[in-house]
Amino acid sequence: MIQVNLTNMQAFAEEGFQTRLASELRTAHEHLQHHDGVGSDFTGWVELPANYDREEFARIQKAAAKIQSDSQALVVIGIGGSYLGARGVIECLCSANYNLKKKNTPNIYFTGNGLSSDQLSEVAQLLEGQDFSINVISKSGTTTEPAVAFRFFRKLLEDKYGKEEAAKRIYATTDRARGALKSLADQAGYETFVVPDDVGGRFSVLTAVGLLPIAVAGVDIQALMDGAKSMMETCSVADAAANPAWQYAAARFALYQAGKKIEILAAYEPNFRFMCEWWKQLYGESEGKDGKGLFPASVEFTADLHSMGQYIQQGERHLFETVVRLGKSKTCNIVPFDEVNGDGLNFLAGKDMDFIRQQAMDGTLLAHVAGGVPNIIVSTDGCDAFELGQLIYFFEYSCGLSGYLLQVNPFDQPGVEAYKKNMFALLGKPGYEELRQELLSKLQG
Ligand code: PA5
Repeated sequence: MIQVNLTNMQAFAEEGFQTRLASELRTAHEHLQHHDGVGSDFTGWVELPANYDREEFARIQKAAAKIQSDSQALVVIGIGGSYLGARGVIECLCSANYNLKKKNTPNIYFTGNGLSSDQLSEVAQLLEGQDFSINVISKSGTTTEPAVAFRFFRKLLEDKYGKEEAAKRIYATTDRARGALKSLADQAGYETFVVPDDVGGRFSVLTAVGLLPIAVAGVDIQALMDGAKSMMETCSVADAAANPAWQYAAARFALYQAGKKIEILAAYEPNFRFMCEWWKQLYGESEGKDGKGLFPASVEFTADLHSMGQYIQQGERHLFETVVRLGKSKTCNIVPFDEVNGDGLNFLAGKDMDFIRQQAMDGTLLAHVAGGVPNIIVSTDGCDAFELGQLIYFFEYSCGLSGYLLQVNPFDQPGVEAYKKNMFALLGKPGYEELRQELLSKLQG
């Protein structure tokens, strides 16, 4: 179960903030539960863990089994919400070194998440001599980065297997009916999976968007969904004492109101790094609008205590930390005794790495709080698929509540369009001629 510990943030927020925010929280909660708040067209994720499409879920499992049996690699093409969740879950549950590990599941290469020519070449090189499949993911079906990458890898696949065979190795996750990718998939006969209309990209990890690549990596996606469902039930309770999402949303909003502008998500587990990236998109894109919103940042402890630790301890006091504690490690490593004790470490001999890490966590917490950094702890019992499903839903629900507390539409992202328009104009896309002239004259000074 997820627990939120607010002991070390209370002193930094207005006294009695929970009581003061109770009615706003209740309103936000009711908007999510009844789908009648701002942006409610995109709140399909709220009940998704209970009412997801079972027939499609079975097809995802079948497709994953096929890919596992006929491919040594899966190329996953997508960006933003069509990328980060799958990578976060795979790295967290299977390791950031997943591709390097001995295993009987395919390597997974993520691409289409930028515009790097070298990255494309590198993935193409890694695929040499390998049987592979492609999962192209784009809700709109028109996003430039994945669309360009798909052209490259589709050609590679078709050159290797011929058009007809290649089509059997391409899986498209996109809108049910619209968009260039959907048309292309229908014409070519690719198997398609749906990004539901009422689920936005950053809330889509528990749809086919995340589930297909995650299943190919060998993760128990049923356990992931079951965990999310159990947290959905917990989060549906309109009671601050019983609802961890209410506690987290209220605390971070109270800190924002008290002048903290940056939330740093910290975890003491390197494999959690891409879950932090997923979390940053979830909160950054949902809250950062109308001139408002906490800036979501992340650190990996203890590594970043040796780089960012100085700033956190003594830099500008406009930040707070949310530390994710993932319970006991899966393995146990005991520090060996050394007779010579040249490194002076025998005081740790016989101690488990988890014990040492725990002391680092506690020491860091006390130091940062003393240095003026409020601290929220989000803890899980452990980190298996069920528990990660719980954590994902917890962060999603808290995010919906947080957006409503902030009085923004948590489910749109109008600001993302600005760079796209300029990029299209500069690339000479038809329809952008006027903007192109304006931008070129600005660039020329
Ligand atoms: O959350 C979002 O809506 C975005 O991050 C999108 O997921 C991202 O831009 C990719 O969009 P699409 O899936 O349409 O290619």
